[in-house]
Amino acid sequence: MSQAQPVIAIYPGSFDPITRGHEDIARRTLRIADRLYVAVAYTATQAKKSLFTVEERVGIIREVFAGDDRVEAVAFRGLMVDFARDRGARFVIRGLRAVSDFEYELQLAQMNRELWEELETVFLAPELEYSFLSSSLVREVAGLGGDISRFVSPPVMKRLRAKLGG
Ligand code: COA
Repeated sequence: MSQAQPVIAIYPGSFDPITRGHEDIARRTLRIADRLYVAVAYTATQAKKSLFTVEERVGIIREVFAGDDRVEAVAFRGLMVDFARDRGARFVIRGLRAVSDFEYELQLAQMNRELWEELETVFLAPELEYSFLSSSLVREVAGLGGDISRFVSPPVMKRLRAKLGG
């Protein structure tokens, strides 16, 4: 008797650093996928000044999901679709926080479909309380001494403190 193939999804991004909003999307994904790659891109479409190295970001994500062996933190170079194909992922997950995310996300989804037709993009909505969150806002607030404990998990707080001092 043949066994059903596990559903493998990829959640790509810059994750500099991962926030509770990203975690929320990742956990929702596990309702529809058996296995999830949280994949930190070396090449992000929107060039940004980074705080953490890609390796540090992967390490942080590993700490955040320690104990859940369905989630694997990885870094990838090159095209996301090639990485997804190599790992057997048929779904790419993206979060939609607000209407303002939609145009950019649709562009990415359509380009990715041009690159590999078999990869489906699935959009998930985060919890309302995270709909205004972004990694750059977290970095800015943390850098200016604000309280970010509601926005990031303890391992992320620890790494931010170590990086920014305080
Ligand atoms: N909670 C908190 N923040 C969220 C969020 C959520 N649920 N969803 C999105 N964001 C924020 C991120 O924190 C990030 O904020 P920042 O700009 O302040 O850092 C922003 O939304 C968008 O970042 P992200 O989701 O990481 O996407 P990106 O635009 O940086 O990267 C990739 C997109 C990595 C998926 C894309 O560039 C890629 O696939 N790169 C590989 C190369 C490739 O294949 N290119 C062709 C693409 S068609």
